[in-house]
Amino acid sequence: MDNDLGEIKAILKKYSQEHLLNGYDKLDEAYKKKLLEEISEIDFELIKSLYEKTKKEPEVNKDEITPISYLDKFKLGDKYKYYENIGKKAIKEGKLAVVTMAGGQGTRLGHDGPKGTYDIGLDSHKSLFELLSDYIKSEGKKYGVTIPWFIMTSRENNKSTEEFFEKHKYFGYQKNKNIFFFIQGELPMIDTEGKILIGEDGLIKLAADGHGGVYESLVKDGMTEKMRELGVEWVFIGGVDNCLVKMVDPVLMGIAIDKNVTVACKSVVKANPHEKVGVFCKKNGRPNVIEYSEITDEMAEATDKDGELLYGESHILCNLFSIDAIERMGSEPLPYHVAFKKAKYIDKDGNLVVPDSPNAYKFEAFLFDAFGEVDDMAVLRVKREEEFAPVKNADSAGVDCPKTARELYKKYYNLS
Ligand code: UD1
Repeated sequence: MDNDLGEIKAILKKYSQEHLLNGYDKLDEAYKKKLLEEISEIDFELIKSLYEKTKKEPEVNKDEITPISYLDKFKLGDKYKYYENIGKKAIKEGKLAVVTMAGGQGTRLGHDGPKGTYDIGLDSHKSLFELLSDYIKSEGKKYGVTIPWFIMTSRENNKSTEEFFEKHKYFGYQKNKNIFFFIQGELPMIDTEGKILIGEDGLIKLAADGHGGVYESLVKDGMTEKMRELGVEWVFIGGVDNCLVKMVDPVLMGIAIDKNVTVACKSVVKANPHEKVGVFCKKNGRPNVIEYSEITDEMAEATDKDGELLYGESHILCNLFSIDAIERMGSEPLPYHVAFKKAKYIDKDGNLVVPDSPNAYKFEAFLFDAFGEVDDMAVLRVKREEEFAPVKNADSAGVDCPKTARELYKKYYNLS
């Protein structure tokens, strides 16, 4: 232990992060051990380069952004049945698995717990997890298979997520047989001086590193291996916060298989030029998504000769990948995006600081930054009212909230 402490002190000195041990002596043995473990896992070079990134003026964007072509699911004509049959065959053969990214908490919804445990207020009072599970099970039944379900949690919500599933008897699934849990990665948060923060528990203040880590976590945690053992070839990755997410889509799968692409994504037409959704595009000739926070007004509003938005194919986090594509994407580090957030921390004198304005940087990778790894992918436009009912904000926001999601869900399933 002393040796470790000596080595750790030297590393901290090298990176001017000595303050991380300020409270060390006051911790009990278990926490001391944990803190040293956490410190030894930090990639200080990465943190240093991320901090430098926060100081740089945003670079003038030299990327060439162009529109992407897409197929409209309801304008496929005879090809609809053709693709559907290819996809149906693959699903019946057990080649599809689904991943739900559920690393987030329901903070924006005022919900104290994993977002997936949130009740959107249907008469049944089913949680988002249960709504998703109902859908996957009923689709599986159609094809005579149990579709394996992989759930990505975060360190923050893993325990409560698993307890929730256990309480609900895994909604009929069997743990480690056809339902699996894996934990996404995290990165330390830093202050405006580049110092890593210590959280209320005396340990490193870690935050989920974004859903871009999903590929690496799937590989590292042995999930892709498990999928291969189960005979899976295609993996649908979706968010937990869309109660109409259609994870089992034979047409989408048929297109991916027939066109021999390793990624196939669904889009819906943007509701208005400034809707808070990312949009599909090509960046320097390769598939990509521009996030709503990064698109210029001019691009968001540009239209083609028919008056349709040039960048109007919204990314709804409904993406299908071959296992090979996941493994390839998991082997390359993705760029991190910087967010400036409010974060409670313990200062150098051991006092808890509760900021009332943003004070710390959080770093997140986005899953769609990996799309550029593939030469081509298919984008399939689907109907918003059938596939997109996001639950992001509290009802007071009026959009993408429990009320709007509930209405869309009831309408789709003909519930009164
Ligand atoms: C996201 C997309 C946006 C898309 C919109 C559609 C990003 C960066 N942007 O925006 O392109 O148009 O959804 O609704 O994702 N999650 C994790 N771990 C993380 C971060 C997120 O599991 O570290 C999960 C969340 O639980 C959620 C999903 O990813 O299921 C979306 O994340 P969120 O951060 O809410 O993205 P949005 O800003 O809503």
